Amino acid sequence: MKDQKENKIGIVGLTGQTVFFRTQHLPRPGETVACEEMFFEAGGKGHNQAAACAKLGAKAVFVGAVGRDENARICEAALRQDGVQPCLIEKDAPTAFAAVSTDADGENFVQVCAGAASQLTAGDILHGDARSALQDCEVLLIQNEIPAECIEAVLQLAEETGARVVFNPAPAGGIPREIYAGCWVVTPNEEEAKCIAGFAPGQAVSDEALCAALCKAGVRRAVVTLGGSGVLLADENGCCRLPACRAGRVVDTTGAGDTFNGALCAALVQGCDFRQAAQFAVTAAGISVTRPGAASSVPTLDEVRRHLKNRQ
Ligand code: RIB
Repeated sequence: MKDQKENKIGIVGLTGQTVFFRTQHLPRPGETVACEEMFFEAGGKGHNQAAACAKLGAKAVFVGAVGRDENARICEAALRQDGVQPCLIEKDAPTAFAAVSTDADGENFVQVCAGAASQLTAGDILHGDARSALQDCEVLLIQNEIPAECIEAVLQLAEETGARVVFNPAPAGGIPREIYAGCWVVTPNEEEAKCIAGFAPGQAVSDEALCAALCKAGVRRAVVTLGGSGVLLADENGCCRLPACRAGRVVDTTGAGDTFNGALCAALVQGCDFRQAAQFAVTAAGISVTRPGAASSVPTLDEVRRHLKNRQ
């Protein structure tokens, strides 16, 4: 008999309102640039990843902290609309807010004020509604937009329940090393991977050297996202690359990593092995960058399946 855990992913992270500016080029220090378009979209890495899990066929529950304000209601409605079950804990601080600027090549700048999300505690996760929502999840997905004690609490919960933890260490920095050993897979981008592995930012590193240094840093398994160059899969047995999926003209890379992480988890709970799940996720992310926005750019399950079929 199939157990209750099947297909369910618990995402603990940041949800907040985001303003997107589209401009020809990103501003240099001190420069003012005119924007051609602006729009609002609920987001945050955790929020976007939860939306991706649900849109790509998994059951997704999102745990995060919000303020007692209108933006909290907007975020909750957006999560529900994408099929995510929200478990939002109210704090006496404003809901998170982010500003994303995107240039003509789809490159971006992201600034985030975490607000209420920075007040989420280990106790919020390990007790009450959040615990009830998370304890029957097959996979727990976290990012580095929540306090370190919350990451540790998710790892503690996973140890108790047997859930696999997928950790997207974004943004980089300030992550205690001991955390990696408890994660089933870590999903940094190239610069985040170098930071974990102890290399200098921008330093040229071979795949093999990066893989070896990640393992030495305590990472059991990693998938390093390389933008247009695909992904690097690494574990103690070595490493290999999967190419990027070119689904069309790149319009906006914001949230591509979030689509990747959500898709990876959705594929894992649907029974894919690590490599198959990474292939599915690369395809989903490749489609997402052809559209503006973050959560709204996540493709449907049918679209991803169609692309995968056309590749064969
Ligand atoms: O990863 C992209 C996300 O990071 C945006 O949605 C923004 O809200 C920031 O948190």
